[in-house]
Amino acid sequence: MSKASVFVSRLIPQDNIDELKKHFDVEVNYEDKPLSKAELKQKAKGRNALLTLVTDAVDGELLDAAGRQLKIVANYAVGFNNLDLAAATQRGVILTNTPGVLDDATATHTFALLLATARRIVESDRYVREGKWKGWAAMAFLGLDVDRKVLGIAGMGRIGSNVARKAKGFNMRLIYSDLRRNTEFEQQFGAAYVDKETLLRESDFLTLHLPLTPDTRHYIGEKELNMMKKTAVLINASRGPVVDEKALARALRAKQIWGAGLDVFEREPEIEPGLAELDNVVIVPHIASSTGETRLAMGRIAVNNIVKVLNGQPPETCVNPEVLKKKS
Ligand code: DGY
Repeated sequence: MSKASVFVSRLIPQDNIDELKKHFDVEVNYEDKPLSKAELKQKAKGRNALLTLVTDAVDGELLDAAGRQLKIVANYAVGFNNLDLAAATQRGVILTNTPGVLDDATATHTFALLLATARRIVESDRYVREGKWKGWAAMAFLGLDVDRKVLGIAGMGRIGSNVARKAKGFNMRLIYSDLRRNTEFEQQFGAAYVDKETLLRESDFLTLHLPLTPDTRHYIGEKELNMMKKTAVLINASRGPVVDEKALARALRAKQIWGAGLDVFEREPEIEPGLAELDNVVIVPHIASSTGETRLAMGRIAVNNIVKVLNGQPPETCVNPEVLKKKS
């Protein structure tokens, strides 16, 4: 009997690919750039499973192009705003993500952005490299203290609470907002549950850990930036469209807030014109979960899900669980 066929849309760790190859016929887009819609549709045709990345739009058109034998799309990310859940459920295709294994890496990266922004690490590094440093100066690159400041967390899921845990090392005072209140977390971390306006007005550092949904699009816009302290720093390692990037660029230019640390952008890989010219923003290319160990662990979940589903078992994770009910 011929092996099931799997297409991997971009480069992932070779160990993960080798594991897939033990079970299936595997083709990988080793070029490591997103395929066009037409290319992806053509590659998906006849596959039993697809392993996709955040740069791939998985919609009804792609699923139809793949064909009725497609059983699973394993998305190599915890976020799944690139997947059309309804279209997949309607066609009986299981969609999976990679939760849990990237919380530490993403929360650590959130702190790296926070510290780099507060202590002007990137700006001062550039200054030294450009040969501008002429000697020690008491007033050079004055930054912000982090210890004992108020950290506001929007979205207290796995990553938000991991950030909170790390913030305790800096004795930060924690406030958070979320759709659901978590009293256990409040007791454990001495965190206060607040409404959005209080979060905006009181945070010295505001970090976003919200999934991208129609409700969270532009969660931070002009109105919200106006409510923040002039000394506040905004950190976004969730999804770009959660912040109105145009409004943020304006606020940073006008020094309406002190700074921002951004891992994600509204129209990746494009950056809002003018943003990159500002010194009070740290910009990195969507790498919050990018450590060797984490990437491997993400791959293990995706591969395991494909192996399970193609062997008739339920996956380890699933973002459209209704499809499993329909199948059982
Ligand atoms: C995720 O997992 O959602 C990241 O943004 C991509 O690694």
